[in-house]
Amino acid sequence: MPSVSRGGVAGPALMIHVSQTGDPMKTKMRTLLLLCAAVVGSCDAPLFARSAARTVAPAEAAADRWAAETEARMTDDERFSLIHGFMALRIPGFGDPNLVWPDDVVPGAGYVPGVARLGVPSLRETDASLGVTNPFGIRKDDTATALPAGLALGATFDPEMARRGGTLVAQEARARGFNVLLGGGINLTRDPRNGRNFEYISEDPLLSGLMGGAAIRGTQEAGVIATAKHFALNSNETNRHTWNATIDEAPLRESDLLAFQIAIETGKPGSIMCAYNLVNGAKACGNDFLLNRVLKQDWRYKGWVMSDWGAVSAADFAIKGLDQQSGDQLDKQIWFDAPLKAKLADGSFDRTRLSDMVRRILRSMKAVGVTDWSQQAPVDMAAHAATALEVARRGIVLLKNEGVLPIAATARTIAVIGEKAQIGVLSGGGSSQGLPPKGWAASDPIGGSGQMGSWRIARWFAGAPTDALAAAAPQAKVEFDPGLSPQAAAAVAARADVAIVFVNKYEVEGFDSPDLALPRGQDAIVAAVAKANPNTIVVLQTGNPIAMPWRDQVKAILAAWYPGQEGAQAIADVLTGKVNPSGRLPITFPMGVEQLPRTTIPSFGTPENTPVTVAMNEGADVGYRWFARKGLTPMYAFGHGLTYTDFAYSGLRVRGGRTVTATVTVRNTGKLAGADVPQLYLRSIDGVVEPRLLAFGRVELAPGEQRTVTLVADPRLLARYDTAAGAWHIKRGRYALAVAKSASDPVLTGVVDLRARNLPR
Ligand code: BGC
Repeated sequence: MPSVSRGGVAGPALMIHVSQTGDPMKTKMRTLLLLCAAVVGSCDAPLFARSAARTVAPAEAAADRWAAETEARMTDDERFSLIHGFMALRIPGFGDPNLVWPDDVVPGAGYVPGVARLGVPSLRETDASLGVTNPFGIRKDDTATALPAGLALGATFDPEMARRGGTLVAQEARARGFNVLLGGGINLTRDPRNGRNFEYISEDPLLSGLMGGAAIRGTQEAGVIATAKHFALNSNETNRHTWNATIDEAPLRESDLLAFQIAIETGKPGSIMCAYNLVNGAKACGNDFLLNRVLKQDWRYKGWVMSDWGAVSAADFAIKGLDQQSGDQLDKQIWFDAPLKAKLADGSFDRTRLSDMVRRILRSMKAVGVTDWSQQAPVDMAAHAATALEVARRGIVLLKNEGVLPIAATARTIAVIGEKAQIGVLSGGGSSQGLPPKGWAASDPIGGSGQMGSWRIARWFAGAPTDALAAAAPQAKVEFDPGLSPQAAAAVAARADVAIVFVNKYEVEGFDSPDLALPRGQDAIVAAVAKANPNTIVVLQTGNPIAMPWRDQVKAILAAWYPGQEGAQAIADVLTGKVNPSGRLPITFPMGVEQLPRTTIPSFGTPENTPVTVAMNEGADVGYRWFARKGLTPMYAFGHGLTYTDFAYSGLRVRGGRTVTATVTVRNTGKLAGADVPQLYLRSIDGVVEPRLLAFGRVELAPGEQRTVTLVADPRLLARYDTAAGAWHIKRGRYALAVAKSASDPVLTGVVDLRARNLPR
């Protein structure tokens, strides 16, 4: 019998058998409901539908009613005022500096006036999922909790962490008067050179959907409208306004769209932000297929679609499904004002569609509660810092460890080498850039051509890894070297017991990297240090996978991503063993660009806004699926992550039926408490390789403790999208499964036979 010392649901697709007290039938029903609620989309069982209908419908119906009644009482001017808004920044290049702002503008990303006489609040919008931003310091001295990168959150494989993060940012947004959060980023990390991957969660639709959906839920639980973005296929920053991604419908539905679909079902975001790029020839914000057909018709999405800032190029985007033009001074015209009014007058734009646009906005306001804000409890910044620390700790991935970590208590000298490790940790740049309470330790203007050049300033969050390490290893002397020259770094490393090299690569919105290389000769520094000291550890602060030519020369490698305002502490905690690492890679680390679907980024290096058409030939085979399909061995696989203990799996039982269910016992066979992330993968169907993450969990175990977990697949991941039928189809066949430690490390395998079946959506 497995021990059941701690029960409860610990992951979205993970059910832990709870000890049954009271009525066993009730307990079973409750557990089933919790599980189904957590794995949204996997429960087409009537039991769940009935329960959901009972709890959700009245509030949603009330929101629909209020929206319809309120919209009906509006004048056309009021209607039009709600469907466009401006970027609330007074800096050169952001519109008329003499424009008089309404009194309730909160300077930040966006503002849309309300209709006071009808109790319709203005929309006050802020970026984004990594924390409330303060672009160009527009709100003097206003700081906010800065969370680790989205990839760090993805690496936690912990939706509860995502929910807490979403709530945290929303509470801080609300305290400033913002009622719309322009996060989270749901795009799949299709290309490990994409400059915005650090804002996204993963390369996998299930992980991104469940984690993103949980963050959205957390945001809206705090009474702030969340925005799922950038819909869809915004996979690169190169020529982002003119990048035309082409892909067939089925693979699109099975990959990027599935991530959004799961996030929307899980979190019910009040708004969706469409992307800059084009999809199959039409701009994403004027894309009838994406907006009208998929989002609103097939998924029955009830909220509104706002444009990305500067993404609208015609009034008829309204007909194609766009409900609101954001940051309107960035477009050539305020399309959703005079030009759309003219279309209304000449009959080429339908009045019912105008009403629909407005009602969608109003409905989300009511459903999330921004129409009825009461006093919020004061924000507990210390608790928020603790959450930022926890995300960073859980998000750090130990990639390699040959017995050198945790750092031995006998180490007397620790060399810390690397740019700015004596002052702070790196953050990613662009519209998501945060300014934490302890401020920036350094700001390096990098610049560059194009619209985002002025946003390209590498910021380092205060909190020095050297200080955190000195505090965490008081027996040791910490010696710092900036890593400017291989010889100097090697000299410091040679006289230390352990050498830790911090390598950094800055990523920023608006720019991709041409390759996976570390900049500024950092590879040579690592190689020199590794030669000088056999106990060399490398800490990566990057917003993407990187190439590591020195990988075999060092003893340990840790991916810390951009670790957020408490990053230094989190890194020191993991290095010294105060925290047992539990992060798992949310993105494949390739050996090099030659393993990628596109070895170079199409149109990289051309002047901004050069049109380019990019065939997404990998289709739905993003990340690890591409590697498996092509028989490639990555440097580190999706899902990979080591710990300081060991976990063993036993007793795998797999069941077919309406979906696939796997039961497995996870046992901590090591000497330290730790967290494991059992992952259930589909491996093949009738012998044809079809790797897909079906479910995952996160389970914390004391040494010797074991727990039986049940992993239930979202059935869409067993299916293919049948374009002709407009439905997901599970084909009859033999499905080979594995409970695994990563996408390429199956531990226990099993097979189930499934009958053919269509899924409703
Ligand atoms: C970004 C969005 C962001 C918006 C407002 C755009 O450049 O793509 O993600 O929410 O600006 O700042």
